[in-house]
Amino acid sequence: MDIRDSILDCIGHTPIVKLNRLSDGLGCTLLAKLDHLNPGGSVKDRIGIAMIRDAEAKGLLKPGGTITEGTAGNTGLGLAIAANVLGYKCVFCLPDKMSREKIDLLRAYGAKVIVTPTAVTKDDPRHYNAVAKRIAKETPGGWYAGQFQNQANPKVHYESTAAEIWEQTGGKITHFFAGAGTGGTITGVGKYLKERNPACKVVLCDPVGSYYSLYFKDKNASPVNRQYTVEGIGLDYIPGTISFEHIDDVIPVTDGESYQAARKLTRMEGIFTGGSSGNNLAGALKWLREHKPGAGSMPVVFLCDVGDRYLSKMYNDDWMRENGFIDEYDMTAAELLMHRPGQKLVTAAPGQSLREVIGHVKTLDLSQIPVLENGEPVGALYDDQLIKLLLEGRKLDDIKVREVMGDPLPVVNDEASASELLKTFQAGAPAALVKRASGDWGIITKADLVAVL
Ligand SMILES: Cc1ncc(COP(=O)(O)O)c(C=O)c1O
Repeated sequence: MDIRDSILDCIGHTPIVKLNRLSDGLGCTLLAKLDHLNPGGSVKDRIGIAMIRDAEAKGLLKPGGTITEGTAGNTGLGLAIAANVLGYKCVFCLPDKMSREKIDLLRAYGAKVIVTPTAVTKDDPRHYNAVAKRIAKETPGGWYAGQFQNQANPKVHYESTAAEIWEQTGGKITHFFAGAGTGGTITGVGKYLKERNPACKVVLCDPVGSYYSLYFKDKNASPVNRQYTVEGIGLDYIPGTISFEHIDDVIPVTDGESYQAARKLTRMEGIFTGGSSGNNLAGALKWLREHKPGAGSMPVVFLCDVGDRYLSKMYNDDWMRENGFIDEYDMTAAELLMHRPGQKLVTAAPGQSLREVIGHVKTLDLSQIPVLENGEPVGALYDDQLIKLLLEGRKLDDIKVREVMGDPLPVVNDEASASELLKTFQAGAPAALVKRASGDWGIITKADLVAVL
């Protein structure tokens, strides 16, 4: 029998999986720690129960008490799950840039939600943490969780998240890539990994515009205005829950890179996460491409929360376009081919009779068939030519492909952009052949490109 005491026993022990397709060309296989598979859909379930247990032990939170917190949404959810099991009330303050889904979700769990302005400094009394702190003071039995100072936060990552990753990789992890909101994850995990293997690299993936990257390079750097839109990570000051002691490198990531990486992760690996996971993935891929750690390495990227929370934002094409994060013309031929998985390219040989080939044209409704000789394109059969021959009453058994084939289709490689393909089609080609990195051939027709764009 495998019956847990409550939902709280389902927190943690999230799987690690290989990112098989996204690792293409990296020289090693990137692994992902799927913390978005926690019951509340995020890494923050871990700190919700950990901070509550710590407060109970210290006598700060008493039975029937009220938990308050300033949260980007996920910590609130982690706290609400534990609060509902243990019988506490919750009041959460969220900055108004957070997605509607997160607010609705917290209310669904029975929490009271107060939305505060994003565009205020942390010293402003309207700041979400200041409001949460004040409510805790004014409410009898109130306790402010304070994820940005609470040491139970990095501690639970040291004790659970890190220990899981170490065991799941058999101690072979060589690189750890994560973002930082409170920094609890990267601080707890980084400390554990470095204690066991000082050579293991810990890389912070940070949104462009966050103070963390500046501080890493210069401890006296002045804070900047945060201009990024990715939720839950990056900060404009250094909180008590982050330590840079175990961070080896920082890689800045733009909003566009984060969103596009998360969307690719969904489409190429079937893993549906939010923008902060995309930030970590984009950072990991950039860093690994640049540093080329080699086949023996075992890098792990941390995935933080589920994609459902962002359906109205980064998974909405109109929102992405309006905010300048999407440009379909940047898609590569390899990505365009992914829209028609499993489709086999139909080809003809120059020595075949038209009778042998025409069956394909009819049954598969093909407009052109590339002609290959010794694996290389030497021509193509076009449907209008075949129709013309039929109308002339010619006997197809007697005609060889070589006699009637037209010019070969233009050839591009996997990396050709949709814009390049568009130019090829505008110049008159009805389709283009794609020489795959694997050595196989693919085909993209005008209609395929239109369907995707
Ligand atoms: C969506 C999301 N991802 C990542 C993080 C960062 O985790 P940590 O606070 O442990 O640095 C947060 C933190 O709020 C978050 O909400």
